[in-house]
Amino acid sequence: MLSETEIHAIDHEVSLVPYKKAAVIEALKIVQQERGWVSDESVEAIADYLEISAAEVDSVATFYNLIFRRPVGRHVILLCDSISCYVMGYQTLYEALQQQLNVKFGETTADKNFTLLPNACLGCCDHAPALMIGEDLYRDVKVEELEGILKKYV
Ligand code: FES
Repeated sequence: MLSETEIHAIDHEVSLVPYKKAAVIEALKIVQQERGWVSDESVEAIADYLEISAAEVDSVATFYNLIFRRPVGRHVILLCDSISCYVMGYQTLYEALQQQLNVKFGETTADKNFTLLPNACLGCCDHAPALMIGEDLYRDVKVEELEGILKKYV
């Protein structure tokens, strides 16, 4: 079931598009912002509200890799694994993240603070390697800076 806050925000998005279905990605983002991720029940609630099938909502949700269909930690780390970052130190960063957080890609730390995910190009290839934590983009990341970066989120 959608909350009043979610319904209010989704109604606003629906008012901006020609038909309800076109607001599906925004509806998914709204629910994720409120709940941290998008459960099957949320997919069904969005589908009911937008008068489309749950399968249609789910197909959009699974197409966009930043819609999380499983619970994630309070902070999601997106480590770029595209070509520029790959050649500029991605592997070293990944190994350091695995060691410092004790997780692999797709996993969440025991304290539920971080989820680590691979991500395609973050759009700053001239400043590789790059990663994002939540909305924060880190460029030219050096492995020795990682600990200090992570500490900002604990
Ligand atoms: S390849 Fe990593 S930011 Fe583009």
